[in-house]
Amino acid sequence: MRVVDIIQNKRDGRELNEKEISFLLDNYQENKVPDYQMSAFLMSVYFNGMTKNELKIFTEKMVNSGDVIKFQGIDKFLIDKHSTGGVGDKTTIALAGLFAALDIGTAKLSGRGLGHTGGTIDKFEAIPGFSFPQTKEELIKMVNTTGTGIMGASENVVPLDKKIYALRDVTATVQSIHLIASSIMSKKLAVYADGLILDVKVGSGAFMKNLDEARKLSNAMLDIGDSFNRKVVTILTNMDEPLGFAVGNANEIIEAIETLKGRGPKDFTDLIETIVGMALKLKGDVDSLEEGIKKVHKVIKNGEALKYLKEFISYSGGNGELVDDYSLLPTAKFELRLFSKTSGWVKEINAEEIGKAGMILGAGRATKIDIIDYAVGINLNKKVGDKVEVGELLAIIHYNNDKNLKTSEKMIENSYSYSQTKTIPKNVILEINSVNI
Ligand code: URA
Repeated sequence: MRVVDIIQNKRDGRELNEKEISFLLDNYQENKVPDYQMSAFLMSVYFNGMTKNELKIFTEKMVNSGDVIKFQGIDKFLIDKHSTGGVGDKTTIALAGLFAALDIGTAKLSGRGLGHTGGTIDKFEAIPGFSFPQTKEELIKMVNTTGTGIMGASENVVPLDKKIYALRDVTATVQSIHLIASSIMSKKLAVYADGLILDVKVGSGAFMKNLDEARKLSNAMLDIGDSFNRKVVTILTNMDEPLGFAVGNANEIIEAIETLKGRGPKDFTDLIETIVGMALKLKGDVDSLEEGIKKVHKVIKNGEALKYLKEFISYSGGNGELVDDYSLLPTAKFELRLFSKTSGWVKEINAEEIGKAGMILGAGRATKIDIIDYAVGINLNKKVGDKVEVGELLAIIHYNNDKNLKTSEKMIENSYSYSQTKTIPKNVILEINSVNI
C-alpha cells in the first residue's frame, strides 16, 4: 500500500476503507509518513469531507492512539458536557452544583484556555486553594463524594490528535468540519461517559460562524456518536455576544454562583437549564426537556444546587464560604468604566473581540506559557436588545496592570454594534438534536 494512492483516492472522492485509513494513521503516528503527505491528505479531507464510515474508522483510530479511560467504581450516571469554546462560558461551574443536586455524575478531563476563550480549569483555579485531582483514583473519589470530578487533560489521551492538530494549524485545515468533529469526538470517546452533551457555539465568538456550519458539525458528531452507540445530544447555542455579563475568571465564578441563587443572566440561565434538562432526559429521569427544567428550577429554588457547589469547592481545597462572600475571591486593584459614545439598540457584541480584550489584560493566555491574572475581567452592562444612550455605562474593566488598557478599551467599544431600530436578542438555544435517546 502506498500513501500517495490513499491521498489520490481521497482527492478524487473515493471512499477509503479501514485498511487505508489505518495504514495512513498508524504510520503517521510512528513518524513514517512525512508531514507533507499528511498535509495533502488533510487538505483533501478539507475539500471532500469524509463519509459516515470513514469518520467512524478515522475517529476510532484516533481514540485508540493513546489511553482509553473508563473510571471504575463510580456508581453514578456520568454525563460529559463539552463546549466547542465560547466567551463567558461558566457552565461547568454551575453544573458542578446542579448535576450533584440531581444525582448526575461528571468525570472528565478538561482543558486550559488559549486565545479568546477561557478554560474551565483556569476558572476554578481562580478560587484560592482550589486544586484538581492528580490521579485517576483521586478523581474517582472526588466524583463519588461530590458528584463532579474534573482533572487536567492527560498527554496520552488521543496523542494523535495533538500531532494532527498541530499540522492542521499550519496548513489551513483546522476549519474542516469532519476533522473538527473527529478531533472533538475522539477525545470525548476516549474517556468513558454514559452520555455526551455537546454545546456547539454559533456566532462571532465561536469556531462555527453560522448556523449552517454548526449544523454540519453537529450532524457529523452525532454520526460519530451513533457509530459508537453512544447517547449524544448536541445543543446549538448563540455566541453573537458573550454568554452572560461576566468575562474573565473570578467574575465568572461569581456569575455562576449568582445563577444558582436564581439571579443569573437570562441567556446563561436558559443554557444551563437546557443542558441539565437534557442530561436528566439522557439519564432517563424525565420524559421531556420541560419536565427536566422543572427539576432544575426546584434545586435552584431550594438551595440544593448552591449547597452542592459549596461542598465541591470545599472538597477541592477552596473556602466554600465564598458562595456568600465574594471578597474571598481575587479582586482587581482598579476598574475602568466605559461609557457609550453612541445611542441605539445593541445589535451584536463581537464575543471574540471581548474575549481578546480580556486576554490582553491578563484574563487569558495568548501563548501556552502566559500566566493568568484571575482577578482581571470584563463585566458588560449592556447586552443585545438593550437600549443605550450616549454616556450610559457600557462595561466595566477590572484590571491590575494598565499596559494594554487603552487597546482593550477600544476593542470593547468596537465590539458593540448598534441599530437605530429596536433589536430582539436571539434565544441562546438555537437547536437541539440527539441520537440514541
Ligand atoms: N476543538 C477541538 O478539540 N478540535 C478541533 O479540531 C477544533 C476545536
